[in-house]
Amino acid sequence: IEETLVLVKPDGVARSLTGEILRRIEAKGYSLVDIRLVQAERSLLAEHYAEHEGKPFYEPLVEFMESGPIVAIRVAGNRVIEGFRVLAGTTDPTTAAPGTIRGDFGRDWGLRVQQNLVHGSDSPESAERELKLWFS
Ligand code: GTP
Ligand code: MG
Repeated sequence: IEETLVLVKPDGVARSLTGEILRRIEAKGYSLVDIRLVQAERSLLAEHYAEHEGKPFYEPLVEFMESGPIVAIRVAGNRVIEGFRVLAGTTDPTTAAPGTIRGDFGRDWGLRVQQNLVHGSDSPESAERELKLWFS
């Protein structure tokens, strides 16, 4: 059975959307394997977002992710990596499809980084790497 890392980002936690996001994951039929509330250190975020280092949104992204607690969830199911990315919707919350988490609850707040409520691993390699970082 495949596993993925889902993060409810600080905007999702602050807006009390954690329950709604967990509900959608469970309603889809995926299983919650582990869950924790984390105040992420910069070192963890630097490893998590290593692929984005040097991009213009990198620093605001890390600052945003440090700005409050994150709910980290280990989720299991067949094709859950791809499946959760579909539940989440595309990165830009303005154009994410209605029916997705980002499409239903996200919008552009005019900030330096897109606050888009959730993260989901984007490949089996990312999932393995990220699950080790957030659940070790
Ligand atoms: P994650 O699940 O969080 O990794 O999102 P993603 O895979 O849909 O996007 P990606 O990994 O490319 O980018 C990581 C995060 O950086 C996004 O979720 C956004 O918060 C932010 N981000 C990505 N691209 C942009 C951009 O072009 N502009 C801004 N302002 N923020 C961006
Ligand atoms: Mg990504």
